[in-house]
Amino acid sequence: MSLKLAVIPGDGTGPEVVREALKVLKTVAASEKLKYTLTEFDYGGDRYLKSGKVIDEAEIQGLRKFDAVLLGALGHPDVKPGILEKGILLRLRFDLDQYINLRPVHLYPGVDTPLKDKGPEHINFDVIRENTEDLYCGHGGIMRKGSPQEISTQEMITTRFGAERCLRYAFDYARMKKKTKKGKGKLTLVHKTNVLTFCGDTWFRAFNEIGEQDYPDIERDYNHVDACCMWFVKSPEFYDTIVVPNMFGDIITDLAAIIQGGLGVAAGGNINPEKGGVSMYEPMGGSAPKYTNLNVINPLAAIAAMGMLLQNTGAKKAGDRIDAAIKKVTPKMKSQSAGKMGYSTTQVGDLVCENL
Ligand code: IPM
Ligand code: MN
Repeated sequence: MSLKLAVIPGDGTGPEVVREALKVLKTVAASEKLKYTLTEFDYGGDRYLKSGKVIDEAEIQGLRKFDAVLLGALGHPDVKPGILEKGILLRLRFDLDQYINLRPVHLYPGVDTPLKDKGPEHINFDVIRENTEDLYCGHGGIMRKGSPQEISTQEMITTRFGAERCLRYAFDYARMKKKTKKGKGKLTLVHKTNVLTFCGDTWFRAFNEIGEQDYPDIERDYNHVDACCMWFVKSPEFYDTIVVPNMFGDIITDLAAIIQGGLGVAAGGNINPEKGGVSMYEPMGGSAPKYTNLNVINPLAAIAAMGMLLQNTGAKKAGDRIDAAIKKVTPKMKSQSAGKMGYSTTQVGDLVCENL
């Protein structure tokens, strides 16, 4: 097995956490007969400030040659919000058609959750967020800007095709979890069908039609997004696999990140599950500029992202071993927050390597 990996360390603490993820990759690869090549790209805020360039067509084409991408973080204090997010992250998600955003929400052993009386047995679900449609399409516009008659619109776009491919991935995921005894075979659709009677209807009908026809073994459930936020806090054990459109998915996965112990441990994948598709894995925690180069940031989210990358790119066992090693390290740490871990960034990386 040989993997061609692209690495975008990005901004702020991105390079520091990526370094630890690559250290863990190196260690696990040695004992798994896993060969790989790494090619680093300097896309991000610093390059933008120097050259005015975010990412161009040729560079995106270049990424298509890789088996997967590891991204550190994007976001620079001197770059106006939106430029790097839209110009790089969202551009890559759209152009590489990474239509699944997979966010495992598992409370690791010994990690503090703000939820009273909840442990790893309660906070143990996966969110599958549609990653290319909805309010993220950028349809809309602004008229008479700056005047009292200003009008702006931003449209929610749902296609049957987009909802269906995401739903099928989610049903397959729930089925795979059931088969491997990692889940109970339940899929919850989260939307707001009582108000969004057009987009919600497309999702709801597709969910039930596909479920009834092709996944009778998977229990279907539905929650409104506002209620889902409440249940995340009150009874997270209620969930097994969740499928959700883009914007609501963005919001509930941040809430989910906090109940799983914070951005220091939360990882995600932007996945194109098609044959030859290029997926990109990332820690959820942003570039945290104030901690840059202090060796205090938590690298576990980036290490977990590397684990996900391997699990989904043909090296499942290596990825599973990373996940298992993380679970041995978290109980030793004082906290998952930057500067409070009881270890430095590099020491946490070393600990994961020792526990592989
Ligand atoms: C995320 C982020 C992005 C999103 C931003 C940075 C554009 O919040 O990955 O959840 O909204 O999807
Ligand atoms: Mn987000």
